[in-house]
Parts: sequence; C-alpha cells; structure tokens
Amino acid sequence: MADAPTVTEQHTTDAVRRHDPDARGFASDNYAGAHPEVLAALALANGGHQIAYGEDQYTAHLQQLFRRHFGPRAEAFPVFNGTGANVTALQAVTKRWGAVICAATAHINVDECGAPERIGGLKLLPVATPDGKLTPELIDTEAWGFDDEHRAQPQVVSIAQTTELGTCYTPDEMRAIAERAHERGMVVHVDGARLSNAAATLGVPLAEFTTDAGVDIVTFGGTKNGLVFGECIVVLDPDRVPTMTMKYLRKLSMQLASKMRFVSVQFEALLAGDLWLRNARHANAMATRLAAAVSGIDGVTVVRPVQANAVFATLPSEVTERLRKRYRFYTWNEATGEVRWMCAFDTTEADVDAFAAAVAEEMAAR
Ligand SMILES: Cc1ncc(COP(=O)(O)O)c(C=O)c1O
Repeated sequence: MADAPTVTEQHTTDAVRRHDPDARGFASDNYAGAHPEVLAALALANGGHQIAYGEDQYTAHLQQLFRRHFGPRAEAFPVFNGTGANVTALQAVTKRWGAVICAATAHINVDECGAPERIGGLKLLPVATPDGKLTPELIDTEAWGFDDEHRAQPQVVSIAQTTELGTCYTPDEMRAIAERAHERGMVVHVDGARLSNAAATLGVPLAEFTTDAGVDIVTFGGTKNGLVFGECIVVLDPDRVPTMTMKYLRKLSMQLASKMRFVSVQFEALLAGDLWLRNARHANAMATRLAAAVSGIDGVTVVRPVQANAVFATLPSEVTERLRKRYRFYTWNEATGEVRWMCAFDTTEADVDAFAAAVAEEMAAR
C-alpha cells in the first residue's frame, strides 16, 4: 500500500492547464483568478486533520480578525457564495411574513434567480433609484402597512455597498438609512460583495460605514477580491440578529462547509494584513484609469460616477459587438446599450491601456 502524501512533498498532477493565463477581460471581477497569497494560505491550511464544520483553528482565529475590522461584537459565519450569503442573512432577520426593501437594481432582486423569494421565502419590495442607492425618502415609499396583516411586513432594508451600479454610499448616507430603518422597526442588511472596494474609495475603516453607522448584518465579499471562493456573513449587532439563528440557518441553507478551514484561511490571508485593501484599491484605481482613458474617445460616454471598480459607458452598438469579439464584458442595459466594464485585483495598467486602445480602434473603424 502506498504511503499517504505529505504536504511538504512536491506533487505532480494529471490535471492539465486548459486556459490562457494571459487572457483578460472586463466582464466581472470574478473572472479573475485567486491572489497568490490566498493560494499560499490554502496550502498552509492543508495537511493534518482538523475538526470539520467550522470547529477548526482557522475559523476560531477568524473571529478575532473580523472583530478587529468590525468591532468587538461581530461574529463571522463563512459561507460558499454571495447569493447564499444574502439569502441566509436575510432569512435571519425576517419572519415568515417579512419583506425586504431594496433597490430595484439590487443583486438580490435581479441576479439571484429568485432565490430570496423561493429559497428564503421572502417578499422583496424593490424601489426604483437613479443610481442604485436607497435613501431614507426612498425607503419610506415602501415602509408602510405595518400591523396590516394584508401586507407582507417590511422588516429589513437591504443595500449593497458598493452598489450594482458602481456607486458608493458615504458613512453619513449609511447612517441615515440605518436610522430611518430602525425608527420604523426594521434592520439593515448590507450586501458587501464589494465592501472592501467601498472602504478603499472612502478611505475609512470597514466599521466606520457599517457597525458604527448602525448596520446590523453584512455579507462580506471575498470571491471578487482575490479568494478562490468564499464570503462571510457577519453579524454586527447580536441584539438584532441572534447568532444562534445564523448557526442553524447556515446549515439549513446548504451553506455550511464541512472543510471550513479552507474558506476561513482565505479570509485570514485577506484580513490579517492589508491584502483586502491592496486588492480593492488596485481594482478601483484600474477603473479610474479606464474611465479616464475612454472618456477621451469621441462617441464613448462614461455615464455613471466611477466610485469603485466598475465603469459604465455607452457607445454605438456595432462597436460594442466588435469589441466583444476581442474582450468579454456585459451589456448592462439592452435598451440604452449601456455596458459595464469591471476591473479586478489582477487587472494591470497594460490591460487597461490595451483595452482602451481597442475601444479607440473600434470606434475609429466605424
Ligand atoms: C452585489 C453582489 N452581491 C452578491 C453577488 C453574489 O455572488 P455569487 O455569484 O457568489 O452568488 C454578486 C455577484 O455578482 C454581486 O455583484
């Protein structure tokens, strides 16, 4: 019988590299691979046996790291993905007759295949916004009908930071939302798939626009910021979000990783030092560079403020189609032809410059 492998050995593999490691696109920050420091952390956590389902030493240590960033009452629950994180977190703060007020453009409303409704059993109350951001006044358009058994009861305000339209709430805007939500007896959930990008934009600690602003629960993104996979539900106010509820809901929602050490150690790689901020700052800087480069091209209009790692632009549809043969990216609004260009932690200045040059070439070839 062969001996069991040890982690210090160099291993070969029968797997074959099947992609071009130099290929770059602007479709999504999750088209990027994983940061080398994250991969190193995964190797570090390998070997030996650890208690499964979150009772490992990496997950225990992770609590300290999240408390350092989000305050002493924070409790972190690592999960597999963003949709699962949102749906699990929202269930923790709603009763069976509960409803969630969100922007009409919210990921939970348009990009989760109805999981909040079907899997979470939640009613969403979407609100049209000019820029993807809710305000106290916009919240009030759906915060009504309390005590009326005919209406699903608004129990949560869910916002994304940064938003799906690349915009970023200021700490004061977050505080105003939390105050209004709490006045109305609702809790605040933040979809933080890009929370690090927001911190990079705002130049303040994560707690300043979450815990200190009155947010009750966040889903903290890892995948878009350099992890192989993984997100973390972070309960910020255990008085409003019972952590015991989270424990059972995570398993019930099929988000409890048995080998959790491998999710947790990735977050350790991100949060123990400044990798989370370095990656986010870099992605944001690349978007700013891209916006500046394409703004100078006649016929291309950057249509939204660039406040994180996304650039939204309009350009003639035939140019979009030709460009798409060279680079991947999404059309965000079929009606207006608005496209979204995302930058990632590994987008280089040369990638941005080459893409902007391609945009210019295709525009000139019209
Ligand atoms: C704002 C936002 N929330 C949540 C998610 C969900 O992530 P996942 O694809 O891991 O379910 C995404 C992914 O695109 C996102 O952009």
